[in-house]
Amino acid sequence: MVKIAPSLLACDFAILKEEVTSVKESGAEILHFDVMDGQFVPNISIGLPILESLRKVTDMTIDTHLMIENPEQMIDLFCEAGSDMVSVHYEATNHIHRAIQQIKSHNKLAGVVINPGTPVELLSQILVDVDFVLIMTVNPGFGGQGFIESTLDKITWLNQYRKDNNLNYEIEVDGGINDQTGKLCKDQGADILVAGSYYFKHEDYKEPVRKLKGE
Ligand code: DX5
Ligand code: ZN
Repeated sequence: MVKIAPSLLACDFAILKEEVTSVKESGAEILHFDVMDGQFVPNISIGLPILESLRKVTDMTIDTHLMIENPEQMIDLFCEAGSDMVSVHYEATNHIHRAIQQIKSHNKLAGVVINPGTPVELLSQILVDVDFVLIMTVNPGFGGQGFIESTLDKITWLNQYRKDNNLNYEIEVDGGINDQTGKLCKDQGADILVAGSYYFKHEDYKEPVRKLKGE
């Protein structure tokens, strides 16, 4: 069964604690936490103080998506602040292998992320080391953008590669996910659907969870 990871970027930060309580009650499994530095992506979002506060009020799995330059400088802090999963962009470091090991040294789940324009085959040497792969299905930086269909082939490739090589990383997708695009991703083998604007636009968050899971 696919897991749902609402992206907090689209929640109401003025009532963050209530939002997180509603997210948990909705049946979503993971909280997706988007960190942007205004350099790697043209936007600035949320960071360590919010993560620390969030950790105090929820026992949900927190999935930190680092959209930052020089992720190695910040990985230790984001692990210590309470992340359960941390992902770094392949494009943001010259040393993706080191960055992945750094996350794992904190006993956190380690993921590699690629932008829509980055070929998935570039990941072949790192797939044996990661717990999950995050495929960006929009260009990162903003919520509410349209799903880029050409990214579907990357999910197909990753699903086949893990079968062929007996690996068990999870495949996560992020950007423009709704009930329709989410189904396309699931059909190709995605295990975790991140959803921001689609999820939080609902009055009752149980509804997008039901629809995304296809129940
Ligand atoms: C985009 C972020 C996403 C974003 C998704 O840069 O990584 O997690 O919040 O938002 P939607 O689901 O609205 O595309
Ligand atoms: Zn994200």
